[in-house]
Amino acid sequence: MFRNRTLSIFAAIITTLIALSVGITSAQDTEDSYTLRGLAERTNFHFGAAVYTYHLNEEKHGETLSREFNMLTPENEAKTCELQPSPNTFNFSRLDRLVAFAEEHDMTIRGHTLMWHQCVPAWLENGPFTREEAIEALRYHIYTVVGRYQGRIAAWDVANEGIADGAGGLRETQWRRWIGDDYMELAFQFAHEADPDALLFYNDYGAESMNNKANQIYEMVSDWVARDIPIHGVGMQAHFTVGDVNESQIAENIQRISDLGLQVHITEADVRYAGETTDDILRRQAADYYKLLSACLGNEACTAFVIWGVTDQFTWLRDSNLGFFENPTVEPLLFDTEYEPKPAYFALLDLLARRAGVTSLMTDAQVDEMLGRVEVTVDLPEATKSDPDQLAPDSAAGQAYYAAYPVTITLDGETDDWDNIPRVTVDTGTLIPANHDTALTFAAAADDTHLYLLAEVTDSSLIYGTHDPAAAWYEEDSVEFYINATGDLAAIAYEPGIAQIAILAANITNPDAPIIGGTNSASSEIDVTAIETEDGYLIEASIPLTTSAWTITPEHLAEIGFQAHVNGASTENRDTKLIWSMYDVSDQSWNNPSLFGKLIFWDVSQ
Ligand code: XIL
Repeated sequence: MFRNRTLSIFAAIITTLIALSVGITSAQDTEDSYTLRGLAERTNFHFGAAVYTYHLNEEKHGETLSREFNMLTPENEAKTCELQPSPNTFNFSRLDRLVAFAEEHDMTIRGHTLMWHQCVPAWLENGPFTREEAIEALRYHIYTVVGRYQGRIAAWDVANEGIADGAGGLRETQWRRWIGDDYMELAFQFAHEADPDALLFYNDYGAESMNNKANQIYEMVSDWVARDIPIHGVGMQAHFTVGDVNESQIAENIQRISDLGLQVHITEADVRYAGETTDDILRRQAADYYKLLSACLGNEACTAFVIWGVTDQFTWLRDSNLGFFENPTVEPLLFDTEYEPKPAYFALLDLLARRAGVTSLMTDAQVDEMLGRVEVTVDLPEATKSDPDQLAPDSAAGQAYYAAYPVTITLDGETDDWDNIPRVTVDTGTLIPANHDTALTFAAAADDTHLYLLAEVTDSSLIYGTHDPAAAWYEEDSVEFYINATGDLAAIAYEPGIAQIAILAANITNPDAPIIGGTNSASSEIDVTAIETEDGYLIEASIPLTTSAWTITPEHLAEIGFQAHVNGASTENRDTKLIWSMYDVSDQSWNNPSLFGKLIFWDVSQ
């Protein structure tokens, strides 16, 4: 299996890279062309980084920036508090310096940002302005700034973070307070008047995947497009935590935006993680950067990819001004503190090389290995029944479960109808406290209408009903069954037909509508019975074989992807995580369905 020889791949890539730059094969294959910038330029792609003026005091910073990137975003220098600290008094010195650096190195500039609810000078915060006065002040600011760099700053984030988190709606901002709900539309109008050739973007965070915030942004910009507000693109900031990049959802979101005739820029990418830097976390960070760039490159409308910094030494996530993120050791970028390229750098280099049609740096197998795509087609041991009365063979530990059919089960909290159906006990996982006493025993069976699932959990302290089931179900006692009915057991992203179905112990006291959680769980149309038992709890569930998301046909030896987890809380939040599939060694099944094992149907007449 891939997993056992994980990290030698990046050492191999460095060797390949050296070989490639030594063995130049054509005039174009200079050493330079094996930089991010060199490869991006072969397909006219913009690959950028944010820079804060003081970073340039370090020589290596400027060198790395101009060698690897052909786009530059001023990290703070174009924000309102920096440019117009007091009314009508502008300070362009630092932005001028960055613009000059970019021009000297032939880099395209993304202006960031004309309006934001942070970095707000006192005059704008305090006002007071009438609507007309504020519109004039906005026009003056935008004309002055955009006008000064007309034809030199190619794209502007006109409005930054204008949609609120959660249930959303327009964010409460200073300009909105003075002007009213059309304040962003006016800003786009003014920016367009000041530089008709500049590309104008709406930019935001937490809206890369197909979520509520992304939907609101989509609705808002659709309306602007319909009303001829001069907007040309949507910026996706892309501040991620390792494991959170959902490539297919980001691709879907980029697609719908491009269907409006708009461009997409990835504007502030970084991928952080908590805890130690290990080879495995660097591989997963590389995988997330790879998925993000791959979602972008998969659509012609995605025309720029900007990373929010160059070296881990200078990342806003270490910034002491930002109490909420400050972490002096966070390493979210492509170059380490010594400016050495990290696995994520080589991953992106490989993607750009493939796109440019030049020798790729990683083999397909190395890419699979980096992405954590594991082959589920392992050789299973011969199916045997250790007890002749069993209706199906013994499971292959952590790899395959044989589900007897046809067997009909009644959801009544009694297990007599599960007699002779093989049980599997799971007592290993990724989170196991010292005094741990939790174990999951599960079984599955099917008839011609339903898949039936049984979970018997031993657990001396039941914690349920104490968390919001929509947001934090996994923090309390719950069992998760995962199904991949798409036929593609190597799928590495959730799509219709793949579901993570968490069944909460809270169902014990809620017998009516099932309390469930997890990606696509509602599409399973699951029915649940849960009861408390002497040493824990028991869940019986049934899932229709035909739903709007899938058709599962139990035939002898037919397979679907399958996984089982249990979450246990012994006092307040989850402190136990037990996992059945041997492929999932880091609790990533919620993100990567290729880590499931399989469920193999077994005709009981065999
Ligand atoms: C951050 C800068 O990186 C920091 O240096 C500064 O102290 C605060 O702002 N989303 C944005 C960026 O749109 O402007 C923010 O930049 C990071 C989050």
